[in-house]
Amino acid sequence: MEYRFLGSSGLKVSALSFGSWVTFGEQVDTTLAYQQMQAAFDAGVNFFDNAEGYESGASESIMGEVIAKAGWKRSDLVLSTKIFWGGDGPNDTGLSLKHVKEGTDAALQRLQTEYVDLIFCHRPDIHTPIEETVWAMNQVIREGKALYWGTSEWSAEQIRTAHAVARREHLRPPSMEQPQYNMFHRDRVEREYSSLYRELGLGTTVWSPLASGLLTGKYNQGIPQGSRLDLAKYGWLKEMLLDSEEGRARLEKVGKLAPLAAELDISMAQLALAWCLKNPNVSSVITGASSVAQLQQNLQALEAVSKLDESVMEKIEDILANKPQEPEDWRAV
Ligand SMILES: NC(=O)c1ccc[n+]([C@@H]2O[C@H](COP(=O)([O-])OP(=O)(O)OC[C@H]3O[C@@H](n4cnc5c(N)ncnc54)[C@H](OP(=O)(O)O)[C@@H]3O)[C@@H](O)[C@H]2O)c1
Repeated sequence: MEYRFLGSSGLKVSALSFGSWVTFGEQVDTTLAYQQMQAAFDAGVNFFDNAEGYESGASESIMGEVIAKAGWKRSDLVLSTKIFWGGDGPNDTGLSLKHVKEGTDAALQRLQTEYVDLIFCHRPDIHTPIEETVWAMNQVIREGKALYWGTSEWSAEQIRTAHAVARREHLRPPSMEQPQYNMFHRDRVEREYSSLYRELGLGTTVWSPLASGLLTGKYNQGIPQGSRLDLAKYGWLKEMLLDSEEGRARLEKVGKLAPLAAELDISMAQLALAWCLKNPNVSSVITGASSVAQLQQNLQALEAVSKLDESVMEKIEDILANKPQEPEDWRAV
């Protein structure tokens, strides 16, 4: 396993990590979760990602049970949760001081741990003053309930504002962001945040590296039974990813990437994960899996990274045809 610094922090996270969205509590029970997490841990994964909103807390409960049973050293783990969607009450969502405190306490109980290493603001909350959220995040850190705080799907401007508030108030600024990043979704990580890595030392733990499985090629001939886009509850995801002109264009690109993966003697999943791992601004690529076999295959993506040399990356770029525009370098003119 390769370990990368989380931005400019002193924390090292496994370059490939394991997350539980959709799977734990929906497709994966505690027994299977144990097998998956053990396989991940044995392969050197130290970062396990979760959120209070995943299956209404059931995902954290399962992860907590697995960790308690496995008996791993706490210092060998980097655990996360994300706060925003905690329930139906008027104060159960968002990033108010009240919900951050109560959501964190409940998550820690479900995870059966005294602290999470990473706590994320799962989305920006336009109803809560940023000062309140920055302070709330600092408060949970001060209470020893979390070590580093970060954001998920915040704009570069929102992250910069949080930084400025934290610096002004002599508080801890966010250390990391959790954005979507895959071959079809690049703009934010590659363009919008580009100055934040250097200027703020931002780390990133990226999600949906396989675009929910699309990039494995499994949807090229229709929707396999039991796959994520076959789940009734996630009909909205199927609509978003497949049922549109854009969705059909994506599948066409996946079709064109397949011979390239075959040429390199790797699976499509490994190609897509290795492509994310090539980005030096990515601290960790969070993989998700509904079986142990999928996870084992994905964990081998690290070995595929060296196969993605400049010429292969160029071929991928030609197929994707979606490279975000880099800022103009007027000195080079
Ligand atoms: N911060 C956020 O807002 C946010 C949002 C989403 C996710 N996340 C985090 O990121 C993690 C990863 O996201 P994701 O689950 O969407 O990742 P993903 O890699 O895009 O999709 C994972 C899914 O693809 C399928 N799959 C994975 N490997 C495969 C393989 N080798 N062959 C065939 N199918 C394969 C499986 O679904 P099926 O077998 O069911 O088809 C699996 O559950 C989540 O678990 C969560 O921790 C965060």
